[in-house]
Amino acid sequence: MTNMTSLTFPRPDDMHLHVRDGAAMRSVVPLTARQFGRAIIMPNLRPPIVNVEQAQEYRARILAAVPAGVAFEPLMTLYLTDRTSKEDIRAAKASGIIHGVKYYPAGATTNSDSGLTALENGFPIFEEMEKVGMPLLLHGEVTDPATDIFDREAIFVDTHLQNLRRRYENLKMVVEHITTKEAAQFVMDAPAHVCATITPQHMLYNRNAIFKGGIRPHYYCLPILKREEDRAALIAAATSGSPKFFLGTDSAPHAKHNKENCCGHAGCFTAHAALELYAQVFDAANALDKMPDFAAKFGAQFYGLPVNAGMVALKKEPFVPSAQFAMGDDEVVPLDAGETLAWKMID
Ligand code: NCD
Ligand code: ZN
Repeated sequence: MTNMTSLTFPRPDDMHLHVRDGAAMRSVVPLTARQFGRAIIMPNLRPPIVNVEQAQEYRARILAAVPAGVAFEPLMTLYLTDRTSKEDIRAAKASGIIHGVKYYPAGATTNSDSGLTALENGFPIFEEMEKVGMPLLLHGEVTDPATDIFDREAIFVDTHLQNLRRRYENLKMVVEHITTKEAAQFVMDAPAHVCATITPQHMLYNRNAIFKGGIRPHYYCLPILKREEDRAALIAAATSGSPKFFLGTDSAPHAKHNKENCCGHAGCFTAHAALELYAQVFDAANALDKMPDFAAKFGAQFYGLPVNAGMVALKKEPFVPSAQFAMGDDEVVPLDAGETLAWKMID
């Protein structure tokens, strides 16, 4: 597959995306809608999206931000809290618009303070989700502040994921934004209904990027970038052709002043050039032929959705995306601002 200079495949899906709300949301949604047919919308707003009514209203606001003539469907999720009930799960399933329930360990990441204080609190809910066929989307990190930040995912895999997999034999799970060889191996070994999303930044960079010549806040996200061997394991998983691994950018816009700050927020913004960033990874791995299924088929398959109608085309052509985008009254700085990318989406 060397020397490929163009790539055309069905309109892909971003199976892990943050679009925020209000004016910020109206700024970023068109960027994703340009490249993707659908996206799994994370519910970590303030306050979080915890019921069907809130999800319906949020969905309508997102749809109103999609440019005329563009086909884009937001796939909504609920935020699991200590107060989520089995009725909430049944209502979510019946709604037809909710495609997953997101587990955040309380305190793990941006707007996660409403998350579960203990994974065990979710057990009765997981049982109901397993029964009705509602996927559990996991932020897989332990939150004990004494645990080394670079070990939080691997320990979560060991202490919680192994247990969940045994306890709920039929619960559909997505280990979101995996960052370690341990998580990749866990998913690889698990049954077919246990999958993972992989971001572009975790395949493009190891943790050195955060500290290259000084501290670089735009490379800081959670789970944090890991070691080179982890990056290699994620690339191997994404390019393996296994349907267990699919595209989820975790594009997480924060205002520039909140990133370039003495306590900078976690999250990389990639919605402006998501496909170009992934193409960079697949091309470098000599596996561009594996990108279409990773981007457009395996995620849809997991969520029980048809592949999108329409196509996208990428061309091997030097491309320098804008170094800054409007986000409501603020600006957002994307990953790799100012860098030349090797691929460009053709409108
Ligand atoms: C996300 C955000 O900003 O909402 N941040 C991040 O670093 N990935 C939250 C998340 O997905 O953990
Ligand atoms: Zn996220």
